[in-house]
Amino acid sequence: MWDRFLRACRREPVDVTPVWFMRQAGRYMAEYRALRAKYTLLELCKNPELATQVTLQPVNAHRVDAAILFADILLPLEPMGAPFEFAKGEGPVIHHPVRDRAAVERLRVIDPEEGLGYVLDAIKMIRRELDGKTPLIGFAGAPFTLASYLIEGGKSSNYALTKRMMYNEPETWNLLMSKFSEVVRRYLHAQIKAGANAVQLFDSWVGSLSPTDYEEYILPHVSSILKDLEKTGVPVIHFGTDTATLLELQKRAGGTVIGVDWRTPLDQAINRLGTDVAVQGNLDPLLLGAPRELLGRRVDDILQRATSAAGHIFNLGHGILPDTDPDSVKFVVDRVHSHQKRA
Ligand code: CP3
Repeated sequence: MWDRFLRACRREPVDVTPVWFMRQAGRYMAEYRALRAKYTLLELCKNPELATQVTLQPVNAHRVDAAILFADILLPLEPMGAPFEFAKGEGPVIHHPVRDRAAVERLRVIDPEEGLGYVLDAIKMIRRELDGKTPLIGFAGAPFTLASYLIEGGKSSNYALTKRMMYNEPETWNLLMSKFSEVVRRYLHAQIKAGANAVQLFDSWVGSLSPTDYEEYILPHVSSILKDLEKTGVPVIHFGTDTATLLELQKRAGGTVIGVDWRTPLDQAINRLGTDVAVQGNLDPLLLGAPRELLGRRVDDILQRATSAAGHIFNLGHGILPDTDPDSVKFVVDRVHSHQKRA
């Protein structure tokens, strides 16, 4: 069923639960490592033919129910005026972190065609290659998660500089959030126009905030993106990690599918979210390294807990880790597909 994933997003009946994996393309696959030996990550992202090739690798290898565009959430930073690189072993490095009002004012609110046209070209090429057999997910980073990299200058453990701006310079913070919201809103619209069948907003690090701060500093901005995208009728997945206390607020912010990580049992998340949204999740990525017997039981447990959902897309609670055995990924796909749905 080519649209099993889209049907589950729309809370329509499916033959079996659809499954895909965040970071399903990447270093755990030999095919990916072979390309990375020749090109940098940014070169792969910026070349539509290479990005297409990488996007298709896990689709061909594991028969997942959705492809995800090969790109990175940080790509918009460069055309906005904040160039960065992926430094070996330390992740992203933003050359000039943005930490004051003047720097925020200098950031450009770009149209995706200026500076991100290569992503839109990749989407068109991937759709052609997928040939209607597998739907394609586009994506972008959410304002808080993008701001955390831009302000900290890279990855962070406590987001101290980010929160410092948020609490101490609320006007600067709101200007930054508004700029990101508008760029992300335009970018995701452009991805849909180019052919993305669904989009996912990655607010990976938003779980570092209290519900009170989420509601005050984040929700209005995320909501301005998601409520607008919902009008397209294309499924919108709203994802975060460590969000056990934020799920209701995330639902209020928007999205037709809410991502749930492994810290929250899926049946509890479904009870709290209700049946007017679908859920996506929520295997711990490290279980892919557990013995098959345990991994299989945990997959079955998630599917059991998801029976009360109006729509469920099987996924991890966060991305695949680089040392994952590709056979475990294939094992999970087959295990999920082996569960026949009741009518
Ligand atoms: O297969 C897919 O899921 C699509 C491709 C994808 C990438 N990044 C490629 C990538 C997606 C969806 C992302 C999203 C992304 N990027 C997020 C949100 C999701 C999450 O994991 O929380 C974040 C926070 C980033 C920023 C980022 N990109 C970091 C922190 C790093 C370095 C950490 C690491 O894993 O090395 C990256 C690099 C990156 N982006 C890789 C890939 C495949 C690493 C592979 C490489 O170096 O070749």
